[in-house]
Amino acid sequence: MQPSSAAAEPGGSDIRESPDPRPPSARGRGALRAVTTVHAAALFTQAVLAGRFLSGDYDMLTAHAVNADVIVAVGLVQVVVAVVYWRRGRGPGRPAAVSAILLVAEAEQAVLGYQRSLGVHVPLGVTLIAAGLLLLVQVWRPLPPNPVPAAPGDAGSVAGKVPPPGTSPEASRPAQDVS
Ligand code: HEM
Repeated sequence: MQPSSAAAEPGGSDIRESPDPRPPSARGRGALRAVTTVHAAALFTQAVLAGRFLSGDYDMLTAHAVNADVIVAVGLVQVVVAVVYWRRGRGPGRPAAVSAILLVAEAEQAVLGYQRSLGVHVPLGVTLIAAGLLLLVQVWRPLPPNPVPAAPGDAGSVAGKVPPPGTSPEASRPAQDVS
């Protein structure tokens, strides 16, 4: 494992992996949550519009095509927001990777729609809606708490450490305040 820059600084911790001890940007996370919510809602709307079209409301096909453009545009914004949150906001990289894959699949989905390749278009549409919802749940989950940095020479800190062999996890926990 590479030594972290925090460990090299006086008073730095030996348990941090990231060189930047600040938590992920709240603004970046808020922006990612907002754009992911709009994106998931637009994806779900496609199934509703397709169902209305198949029920005989033929104008809904035009709405489905317009909403496809909205999805691709919002998907592009989502990639930008997720990459900025990852690279500059200290957020996780996975939403950026998932958003990029979604965007490519959505562009292909629109092509399949215009080609009337429904054998692929419908299952891919369902997959896109599921993926959009899974990402939505992930970005709305609260972040795990930051690990507590160990004080210099503090052998008692358990954050991020594995108990020595032969020690029970209970024995390595700090004493609980029972008062
Ligand atoms: C469960 C989700 C979806 C279902 C069930 C579905 C179903 C359909 C159906 C039945 C058609 C009409 C095909 C025809 O005219 O014979 C269609 C067309 C189309 N779909 Fe979807 N679709 C879904 C999701 C999507 C998504 C996510 C996009 C874009 C990202 C998309 C883009 C299009 C486009 C561009 C057309 C062609 C519209 C036109 O010809 O004016 N669809 N879709």
